[in-house]
Amino acid sequence: MARLIYKNEVKMIFPNMQATAYNDKVVRQFAVMTVVWGVVGMLVGVIIAAQLTWPELNMGIPWLTYGRLRPLHTNAVIFAFGGCGLFASAYYVAQRTCQVRLFSDKLAAFTFWGWQVVILAAAISLPLGYTQGKEYAELEWPIDILITLVWVAFAVVFFGTVGTRKVRHIYVANWFFGAFIIAVALLHLVNSAALPVGAFKSYSAYAGVQDAMVQWWYGHNAVGFFLTAGFLGMMYYFIPKQAERPVYSYRLSIVHFWALIFTYMWAGPHHLHYTALPDWTQSIGMVFSLILLAPSWGGMINGVMTLSGAWHKLRDDPILRFLIVSLSFYGMSTFEGPMMSIKTVNALSHYTDWTVGHVHSGALGWVGLVTMGSMYYLIPRLFGQKKMYSVKAIEIHFWTATIGIVIYIAAMWIAGVMQGLMWRAVNADGTLTYTFVESVKATFPFYVLRLLGGLLYLSGMLIMLWNTLKTATSGRSVEVQIPAAAAHA
Ligand code: HEM
Ligand code: HEM
Repeated sequence: MARLIYKNEVKMIFPNMQATAYNDKVVRQFAVMTVVWGVVGMLVGVIIAAQLTWPELNMGIPWLTYGRLRPLHTNAVIFAFGGCGLFASAYYVAQRTCQVRLFSDKLAAFTFWGWQVVILAAAISLPLGYTQGKEYAELEWPIDILITLVWVAFAVVFFGTVGTRKVRHIYVANWFFGAFIIAVALLHLVNSAALPVGAFKSYSAYAGVQDAMVQWWYGHNAVGFFLTAGFLGMMYYFIPKQAERPVYSYRLSIVHFWALIFTYMWAGPHHLHYTALPDWTQSIGMVFSLILLAPSWGGMINGVMTLSGAWHKLRDDPILRFLIVSLSFYGMSTFEGPMMSIKTVNALSHYTDWTVGHVHSGALGWVGLVTMGSMYYLIPRLFGQKKMYSVKAIEIHFWTATIGIVIYIAAMWIAGVMQGLMWRAVNADGTLTYTFVESVKATFPFYVLRLLGGLLYLSGMLIMLWNTLKTATSGRSVEVQIPAAAAHA
């Protein structure tokens, strides 16, 4: 990977050369919005965590009720925070590793503004109660059409950039970004197929158990491709960059890529254990989930081992710490997931807060930390600075976030296992030992703890927002030139 070369440097080395620059404007826009939407999405997370603890906090206002704010939270953190982070890094990484400007500035700008309109439409329509009722695919059909347009433009810009690259090789991060873009397009088109019956109402094209199967094929691959493959693309670029070491094993990264994308596609039925779905389908979902442990851990090991010979950097580089600790959480959640997919384990964990604990060890630990680390790498460079305004603030953010995650997930694990055990406990005469409401009462202290963990995580994000604004206002937008040899290759 080439080192960044600034305009003046290029002019000094090649005074007669008219070098062209990367399109970093769109990267800058997406990077800043990643931080802004991170704060918004996590704030809504904290509000719903408080509502689960004290339900009267919805104050009797319909659009503040839990059922409407919960999808607002998931859409905001996954598609607004995670999505903007993925756009920013895919555009940045593709340009640097292909040594060429983005394929089309106009289409790239359309993806930015189009995506922000999708987010605003979600922020308005979900609290108003418009929903398709499919988890992570709640948005109604007009918004789905806009998503499709933005996604096609994203694909054209990304693959156009890779297609016009000035280096022969396609760096592995681009394989992951590419798979993420193609798979999400496929998932969105198939799962959102619906019959509109009005401007804000539609019915799914599928019915009954087929609908459930398609939905969880989508749901699980949303985890596999939106929340994993794209972020692995980030991991494969930003960890070697920040550690100043090559990827531990390039061969392993290729095996990791093909094994991961092949296996994820089949694991969806683990979300539908003990349902009307045919039993053999559930077993296939379970087996593929167990196999998924291998490529997931292969990727984690590849990322962590990239630090070989540079372990000491972890001591005083908080950005590298964000990136490496994110991989530890990735390893944890991809061990836990296969275990939860075993039918007998799922019989205990399903419907309980154990699932919510698993989700957030992946979401806060893996997705959150790897995005924050990557943005801390990107933001100063995008504003012509050597480092963020305050490195101390990055350090504080790292610790508040990590402590917040540990409190959140530990509380949910204990609560989840406790709920599962209480619900299945029976007396000698066959009656239930506990009523449902007793299990809710017993969960109360854990909900308070989760709220505390969430507040810590959110405060870290607020520190990041402050640091980003300070870095942006004390820096300036720079034009980074494409390395000369590549531009003229
Ligand atoms: C301050 C941080 C956060 C807090 C306090 C928080 C809180 C919550 C709460 C209370 C729920 C509902 C749980 C339930 O239904 O019982 C939830 C669900 C969810 N959150 Fe978060 N969240 C946070 C950050 C995030 C982030 C950063 C992501 C993703 C990148 C995320 C992804 C999700 C998902 C996917 C669900 C649905 C889980 C399921 O259906 O099992 N959350 N969150
Ligand atoms: C090898 C990898 C993984 C496997 C096999 C796996 C497996 C599972 C299983 C069995 C469930 C519970 C389903 C249920 O009882 O309803 C689940 C839920 C979930 N997992 Fe994972 N998981 C993996 C990795 C991850 C990662 C890395 C993330 C986040 C970044 C994640 C996010 C989620 C979400 C959001 C849900 C909740 C879905 C819902 O009900 O709304 N998973 N996963």
